[in-house]
Amino acid sequence: MPKKFYLTTPLYYVNDVPHIGHSYTNILADCVARFKRLEGRDVFFLTGTDEHGEKIARAAEAAGETPQAFVDRISPRFRELWAALGVSHDDFIRTTEDRHVRTVAWVLGRLKESGDIYAGEYGGFYCTPCETFWTEAELKAQPGAGSRLLCPSCARPVEPLREKNYFFRMSRYQAELVRHIEMNPGFIRPEARRNEILSFLKGPLNDLCVARPKSRLSWGIPIPFDPSYVTYVWVDALINYVSACGLGLDEGRFGKWWPADVHLIGKDILRHHTVIWISLLMALKLPLPATVLAHGWWTVRGEKMSKSKGNVVDPHRAIEAWGRDAYRYFLLREVPLGQDGDYSETALSQRYRNDLANDFGNLVNRTLSMVHRYFGGHIPDPNRAGGESPLKGQALELGPRVRECMDQYLFKESLEEIWKVVERANRYVEETRPWDLAREKREAELGLVLYGLCEVVRILGVLTEPFLPDTARAIDVMLGADLKVGGRWESACRWGSGRPGQRLGSLAILFPRRETDG
Ligand code: ME8
Ligand code: MG
Repeated sequence: MPKKFYLTTPLYYVNDVPHIGHSYTNILADCVARFKRLEGRDVFFLTGTDEHGEKIARAAEAAGETPQAFVDRISPRFRELWAALGVSHDDFIRTTEDRHVRTVAWVLGRLKESGDIYAGEYGGFYCTPCETFWTEAELKAQPGAGSRLLCPSCARPVEPLREKNYFFRMSRYQAELVRHIEMNPGFIRPEARRNEILSFLKGPLNDLCVARPKSRLSWGIPIPFDPSYVTYVWVDALINYVSACGLGLDEGRFGKWWPADVHLIGKDILRHHTVIWISLLMALKLPLPATVLAHGWWTVRGEKMSKSKGNVVDPHRAIEAWGRDAYRYFLLREVPLGQDGDYSETALSQRYRNDLANDFGNLVNRTLSMVHRYFGGHIPDPNRAGGESPLKGQALELGPRVRECMDQYLFKESLEEIWKVVERANRYVEETRPWDLAREKREAELGLVLYGLCEVVRILGVLTEPFLPDTARAIDVMLGADLKVGGRWESACRWGSGRPGQRLGSLAILFPRRETDG
C-alpha cells in the first residue's frame, strides 16, 4: 500500500473574489500534491471556502443578498480559479455544507463533555476583518498604540465587546503545546515562524471564546448545547480539516487520512493554526499534523493589495497574458518559501523570456526539431558511436535532488536544480554543435548527442510536471505516446527509457514570444 499524504490549504473567506495571494497558496499546495503523486503516494488534497461569520454576513448585507445566496454566488469563483490554474485538489469543502456542520457540532459536544468548554463573561475587542478576539493588553502592546486601538494584525479599528460567552480552556494546553513545538523542529516551518510562535507562547495563553450570541450574529453553526449561540467562525473553519475526512461520521475514512501531513497557510494565520487548532486537537486527543507551513506575503509593485487602491491582481488576467504554467512558474520560482514577494508584469516577463522561452523552451525545441530534421522524427540509436552521454550522470541525480528539496518544501530550490540540468544540456548543444556533425555526416556521433538530449528532455518532462503541468503534458505528446510508461518516478530516475527508433509526436513551440514580452 502506498503511503498516504494529506495536505490542506486555508479555506478562503468568500467576502470577495480570489486574487494572486490566494492563488499562491493553492499553487504551492498543488505542486506538493502533484509531486507526491509522482512519487506514487496516495494523496488527499483539500481546499475550500470559509463561509460563516460576521465578515461574510456584512458583505452579504452590503450586496443586498441573504448570506446563503451570497456565499452560493461567490464560492464557485474559487473553484473556477482552481480549474483555470490546473489545481488538482481532491475535495473542495464549504463550511456551509451539512457534512461540515455535523462534525462541528460533534466536536463542540465532545469538548463540552470533557470540560474543555465553560460559560463565562467576555470583555475585550473584536476585529471583524480578521475575525479575531483581542485583549486590551495585546492592543496596548502595539508599537505606537495611542488612544485609538487598532488590530495588531491588520491595523484596522477594533470593536469593544462585552458579552456572555463560552470559552475553550486553551490555557490548559499551553505547556503541552510548547513542548510539542520544541521537540519537533519541523512542525512549524520555516524556522522564523517557529520562533515567532515560541516567543508568543512565552506569555500567558488566554482561554478562547468559541461562540457568538445569536442576538449579535446569527450566520453561523448553532452551538449544540445552547441554541442561542453560534460557533466562532475560526473554530468552525479550522474543524474543516477533520470534517472533510470524516471525523465523527466515517471513522474508516478518518483513520485513513488523519493526521494531515501538511497544513499550507499564509503567515497571517499562523497563530490560528499553531495555537488554536493544535490545542483543540490536543483537547480532542487526536493526533497532530506533521507540519504547518507558512508562506510569505505578496505585494504588488511594493504595495499591499487593496480594493481601495485598485491594485488587486486578478489571476485570470495573468493567466490569459502569460499562460498558467508561466504564472505558476513565476510564483514558485521568484521567492524562497517563507519570504515576501513582489508581483510585477516586468518580473514575470523576464522569467518568461529568460527561464522559460530561452532556456527550457529552447532546449526542448532545438532537441526535438533536430531529431525531426536529422533522423526523420525517430529517436536515434546511441550505441553506434560507443561511449556514454556526458549528460547521464547529472540527469540521473536530478530526481533525488528535487525530492530532497521537495521533502523540505523548497520550491524555488527544486526549480533551480532542474534549471541546472537545463543549462547544462543547452551548453552541451553549443559544445557539440550537432548541426556541424550533421553537415559532416558524422551520424553515429550525432545519434549519441541527440539521444542524450532526448533522454534529458524526457526526464525533465517527468520532473517538471508538479511545477509546469501543461508543459510536461506537451512534452509527453511531443516525445510520442509511451515513452513514459511504467512508474513515472522510476522512469525519471532511469537512463535509457527512450527507445531508439521510437517515433516522436509532432512539434509544438513551448513558451512562444508574447506581445506583452517587452
Ligand atoms: O484567513 N499574499 O481566509 P482569507 C500571500 N478564512 N498569500 C495571501 C495573500 C497575499 N497577499 N492574501 C491572501 C482566512 N493570501 C480564513 C482561513 S483556514 C481554516 C481559515 C492567502 O480569505 C494566504 O494563504 O483571508 C492566507 O493565509 C490566506 O490567503 C487568507 O485567506
Ligand atoms: Mg484574510
